Amino acid sequence: MKFQAIKGVRDILPPESALWNRVEQTAREVFRTFGFSEIRIPDAEHTELFTRSVGEGTDIVSKEMFSFQDHEYPDLDRFRGTLIFHQPTIEDRMQFDLYKAQVSGFVNELSKHVSKRELPSTPESLRAITEIPTLLAQLENMREQYRETASEQTRVRFELYAGHVRDRLRAAQLGDNLSLRPEGTASVVRAYIEHGMHVLPGNVKLYYMGPMFRRERPQRGRYRQFYQIGAEVLGTSDAPGIDAEVIGMLMTLFEQLKLKGAVLSINSIGDSKCRPVYLEKLRAALVKIRDQPEPQMGHDSLSRIETNPLRVLDSKLESEQAIIEKLPRIGDHLCADCRGHYDEVKRQLTLRGIAYQENWRLVRGLDYYMRTTFEITAPGLGSQNAVCGGGRYDGLVELLGGPAATKGIGFAIGTDRLVLSLQEAGEGTVQEGLDVYLAWFGAAAQAAAIGLAKRLREAGFVVELPAIEIKFGKSLGLADRLKARHAVILGDDELAAKVVTVKRLADGSQKKLAEPELLAYLSAETGKG
Ligand code: HAM
Repeated sequence: MKFQAIKGVRDILPPESALWNRVEQTAREVFRTFGFSEIRIPDAEHTELFTRSVGEGTDIVSKEMFSFQDHEYPDLDRFRGTLIFHQPTIEDRMQFDLYKAQVSGFVNELSKHVSKRELPSTPESLRAITEIPTLLAQLENMREQYRETASEQTRVRFELYAGHVRDRLRAAQLGDNLSLRPEGTASVVRAYIEHGMHVLPGNVKLYYMGPMFRRERPQRGRYRQFYQIGAEVLGTSDAPGIDAEVIGMLMTLFEQLKLKGAVLSINSIGDSKCRPVYLEKLRAALVKIRDQPEPQMGHDSLSRIETNPLRVLDSKLESEQAIIEKLPRIGDHLCADCRGHYDEVKRQLTLRGIAYQENWRLVRGLDYYMRTTFEITAPGLGSQNAVCGGGRYDGLVELLGGPAATKGIGFAIGTDRLVLSLQEAGEGTVQEGLDVYLAWFGAAAQAAAIGLAKRLREAGFVVELPAIEIKFGKSLGLADRLKARHAVILGDDELAAKVVTVKRLADGSQKKLAEPELLAYLSAETGKG
């Protein structure tokens, strides 16, 4: 059997991985200068964290999460399996007593774990704990009755009730519902609350990088395991200057990476005061269109009218564009506070010399946003051209059980897409070849070469030290193919004269140098050391 990576995931190989390192390293440096610190968040969380924050009705949560039930107590699970398999019989008293004792034992065990919060207290598990003892008592009565009457009716009822016990056993949950993270904001907010970070002075500024998981249809720039570089600001202030500063940090990073043609789009989607009013207006307009004799909208948009009308604005369907352009716009319905906030965000961006486009249709696909939303597109990416998305989420900390007044804003860059765009623009090559191929000939030379390689590496040069002796011609051929800049040759003659021969492979020029001169020469050639 030949194994291949699973659908929608991929390996990132050298030399491309060097570009990834450059991107991540540059992000770390830029973020540091803006006062951000790294947070490392887990790859999996309780499913409910995402259901509550990203939103049950979103594509991410409803269709795309990799979720599984944890298997914390495999022995208990196996035990349950045998109880479900071996059903009690009404005639056999000993078998019934054993069954009853075992099922009661299972329920006790389950109840103990649930009360210690080692297993989730789902409605199904609570039903098993409260109802199974009653069902067992009823089965016992029926068994007694049957002994006296041998009534067929009692036997049928007994089997029905035994079936209820089996169903309750099956439904009890013996592990947590977990999901691979589809994004990072929910985890950062969870960690912020869990570690009481609201007591820290000023705004808490955190960044993270790593893989995210969404079961999407894979295509160029869209993967099931993809990577994000994200940053979040949490605290009591929602000053528009924070929004502009966060966007400014992003633009600084893109500038340093020489990403050309990035376009920033911004919008405000209002808050819990003005958005509901707007949503009603939007829904009413959409219902009017739906109820026309020949509605011009596709199935997706029609089904969103009730569930999530804002997402209709996201539609890319050519046939819907003219209709969408005529729909009520959030910008015309912002309350005074949101309007003031948005105007100030724009002024703050201008103060920083950041160019932006306003896009009233930029609503984003996650439920936690309010007020500022933004997205950055980059060239060379085809249809998946959003290289970064973000926005403000002032109510999220409270929604997840944290202090009510906490505000938040952040973004996440799609690293895969950023790297693709850089490659398309010819910014994708990162020079990290060999400085030195250290060819040695003979046992004494090998010993000397080992020491020399160590000192050259300590000085910062990239050195390839062959593990076995290779004949001279072959050795230099290999150095060439590995694209080494220099071959350093160490044989008996060099050892005797306490020098090495260094050959510049580009032009074949060579000289004999003692070690201090070699270091100086390589420094001058490579800019390292
Ligand atoms: P998002 O828009 O869902 O936002 O994702 C951010 C970026 O991740 C996208 O713009 C895109 O570049 C990249 N991305 C998303 N899905 C995929 C995929 N399947 N394959 C490749 N790249 C992808 C969030 O995740 C929010 N947590 C951002 C945020 C942080 N908002 C506030 N703070």
